Amino acid sequence: MHVQLHGTAEKWLKEYIDSFRDENGGLHPLMEVKRTHSLRVRDNASQIASELGWSGEQLDCALTAALLHDTGRFPQFAEWGTYYDGASLDHGDLGEKTLRKHFPDEKVATYGRWEDILLAVRLHNKKELPAGITPAAAPLVQIVRDSDKLDVFRLVRMHVEEDRINELLPRIILSGGYSEALVREVSSERRASYSNVRSLSDFLLVQLSWVFDLNYAPSFRMLRRDGVLSWMERVLPQDASVNGFIQSALHHALLGESA
Ligand SMILES: [Fe+2]
Repeated sequence: MHVQLHGTAEKWLKEYIDSFRDENGGLHPLMEVKRTHSLRVRDNASQIASELGWSGEQLDCALTAALLHDTGRFPQFAEWGTYYDGASLDHGDLGEKTLRKHFPDEKVATYGRWEDILLAVRLHNKKELPAGITPAAAPLVQIVRDSDKLDVFRLVRMHVEEDRINELLPRIILSGGYSEALVREVSSERRASYSNVRSLSDFLLVQLSWVFDLNYAPSFRMLRRDGVLSWMERVLPQDASVNGFIQSALHHALLGESA
C-alpha cells in the first residue's frame, strides 16, 4: 500500500493560505481567486485522471501536484502585490521553492514521487518545456498543465461575461482589435506570447493558442462541454488576418477529443 499524499497536501495548503489572512480572518480577494482556482484545478485533474483510468499512486500524485501547482502565487502576491511574473518572479519556480522549504519533510521522506510533483509545480507555467523530463514525470507535468488551462479558460470567460475582466487582467485594454505584432506571431508560429498582448482580443487569441498545448483527449472534451470554444468563436472579432488561425485551432481541438 503506497502512502497517500493528497490529504496531507490539502491540509497543508489550507494552513499555508490561512497564514496570509488578516487578524479578522480575511483573505485578499485576489488570493481568494487563487485559493478556489487551486481546488478547481485539482478537480479538473481528478476528472481527466478518471477518464484516463489512473488510480493508486499515479492518481494521488496528479491530485497533489494539481492542488499545489499555484503555491507560489501566495508568497508572490504577499511580497510583490502582483501576479505579473514579469514584474516580480516566476511563480512556478517560487512554488517549488516554497514547497521545499515549508511542506513537512516527514510527509514526503517516504514518498517516491515527491520530486516529480515538485517538477510539475515548477513547470506548470512554462511556455516551453525543457528536454529531459523523465517518462514517469511527463504525464504528471502534462495533467497539471491541462487542468490549469481548463480552469483559466473558464475563469476568463466568467470575468468577461460579468464585465470584470480588468480585475483579473489589470493591464489589458478592453476595446480595440488585434495588435499587429501578435497577429504576425500567431500566423507564423501558431502560438503567442503575452509580451505582444494589448487588448482583450489579443489575450483571447493567446488563450485560444493554448489548445495546441493541451495533452489529453479528456481535456479537449471538457473544453467543449464547458462551451468555451464556441464562446470564443463568438466573441473573437472577425478579421481576415486571424481567421485561418482561429479555424486551425478549433480544428485541432476537435481532433484532440479522440486522440
Ligand atoms: Fe500558475
